Amino acid sequence: MDPAMELTERKFRHWCRLIESHTGIAVSDCWADFARRRMVEHQSFFRQAEDSPGNLQALVDRLLIKETRFFRHPPSFNYVANILTGGPDVPGSDPQSEPPSGFSLWSVGCASGEEAYSLAILSEQLCQAGKLSSPFRLLATDVSQSALDVASCGEYPRSRLKHLNAMQHAWFEPAGDKFLRVRATLKKRVVFAWHNLLDPLPGKTFDVIFCQNLLVYVAPTRRKMLLEKLAGALKPGGRLVLAPGEFFGAPPEALVRDRCDPGVLAYRRSPNSAWGHKWH
Ligand SMILES: C[S@@+](CC[C@H](N)C(=O)[O-])C[C@H]1O[C@@H](n2cnc3c(N)ncnc32)[C@H](O)[C@@H]1O
Repeated sequence: MDPAMELTERKFRHWCRLIESHTGIAVSDCWADFARRRMVEHQSFFRQAEDSPGNLQALVDRLLIKETRFFRHPPSFNYVANILTGGPDVPGSDPQSEPPSGFSLWSVGCASGEEAYSLAILSEQLCQAGKLSSPFRLLATDVSQSALDVASCGEYPRSRLKHLNAMQHAWFEPAGDKFLRVRATLKKRVVFAWHNLLDPLPGKTFDVIFCQNLLVYVAPTRRKMLLEKLAGALKPGGRLVLAPGEFFGAPPEALVRDRCDPGVLAYRRSPNSAWGHKWH
């Protein structure tokens, strides 16, 4: 083999190990080509970063897949609406009771913010329709600082919002010819923060944790451990919403599969489990 290629292969594996130890994200066959291209593009930067552990974060940032969309998986958002409003599918819900209030959501691996703003739009619309009482708390975290910078700025090319309906569009205002900006009333509802899911939990508990298209990049052997960890950040009866196909097999003891909609992969924190103690 060409020595340069051999070196490249060795470096490739070295950088893959760095990403996995820092984020849990495993470079699997399905995105190895993407990761390799990124490493080649940023080779000189990577060499510098290797000698300086302080730059590891910036290096990892360049390799993560941050693809996202507003309302990416509509059935999951419908599910959240149903859960928050104690809809007909929610066990124990009473249609005559007052709208629930003070609920909290966490968007884990929020990338550039589209998912978090979608959850904020959904929640605001439910509040306006009188199905929920304000205020709600929405925390959105990611390990990529560059993605969080875009999220906090809240400006997106118009083309990324083309598929939104008029009511959803109304939460944005023009920012020049090509961009739309999240309106201040919506923006103030979301707190963006840097957080690595491998680190201790934020120390709060949530009614809904939305963690989509993150675990799919984590080695299957590690996914159950992360599910168990996320369960520790749910309130009793709280829901964890993954993307379809992100987890197979028996969930950790603390979680029960919620079968409200077969197209949605969601879990309820079992009321009987001891929770949270391990991770805070
Ligand atoms: C493919 S994006 C998914 C974005 C959004 N959740 C969605 O479904 O559209 C995955 C995100 O997870 C983030 N991520 C990867 N590893 C992480 C970790 N250990 N802790 C927090 N975020 C992580 C990445 O930076 C990226 O922004």
